[in-house]
Amino acid sequence: MAANWKMYKTRAQARAFVEGFLPRLTARDVDVVICPPFLAIETVVGLVGGHPVAVGAQDVYWEEEGAFTGEVSPAMLVEAGCHYVIVGHSERRQLFGETDAEVARKLRAALGHGLVPILCVGETLEEREGGRTEDVVGRQLELALADLPAPAGQVVVAYEPVWAIGTGRNAEPADAAGVADFIRGVLARYLGGERASRIRVLYGGSVKPANIGGFAARPEIDGALVGGASLDPASFAAIVAAFSEPGGA
Ligand code: 13P
Repeated sequence: MAANWKMYKTRAQARAFVEGFLPRLTARDVDVVICPPFLAIETVVGLVGGHPVAVGAQDVYWEEEGAFTGEVSPAMLVEAGCHYVIVGHSERRQLFGETDAEVARKLRAALGHGLVPILCVGETLEEREGGRTEDVVGRQLELALADLPAPAGQVVVAYEPVWAIGTGRNAEPADAAGVADFIRGVLARYLGGERASRIRVLYGGSVKPANIGGFAARPEIDGALVGGASLDPASFAAIVAAFSEPGGA
């Protein structure tokens, strides 16, 4: 279960969140990741030590170092205590012009440094209405994953339909489960069935405590990537709890 805070929370606000969240986190059978803005990463890392919560970044650049003003390298994230990094979020693709080729480079750079990439894929409303969801998602996966070196490390895939992000309009759990199933088929083609079966496929897009149960009930969906509803400790804790098995607390 991953929280993507996007461009929300100063360090003081991040601290207040973690202090409110940890006492509410009772599930021990759910992997929890918080992805704060770069500047709050070390604050969160310093507070979650000893708790089953990992920290991720929201983006990374693929070069080791150099004259790339404003960018952050994988080694910098590792040193700051990150274990995960989101790559290819639709906001990066749409607002900052990130291409599939760039997403693929970021994914490889993250893996090369032992970071677990959370690869985001998803169609726009126009693509969905045109019946092109599988084409689009399949192409995004193919361009990111083709020719990955054999034991490339762990990858997480987040299916985030663009029309569901920040709109309050979530996908129907059955539809999201269908796309998650399709994603696993594509993963099997590129990475082999055994490896594909171990990859977590998340759903993201207007997830909240009131609708998470429908997603948690679908075996095709392993977790969620949560934006707005992850900004409040009680709300994110309730969402995490929905994916805990009975007896997992
Ligand atoms: P919302 O949960 O705010 O719709 O955002 C989803 C998202 O983009 C997570 O990466």
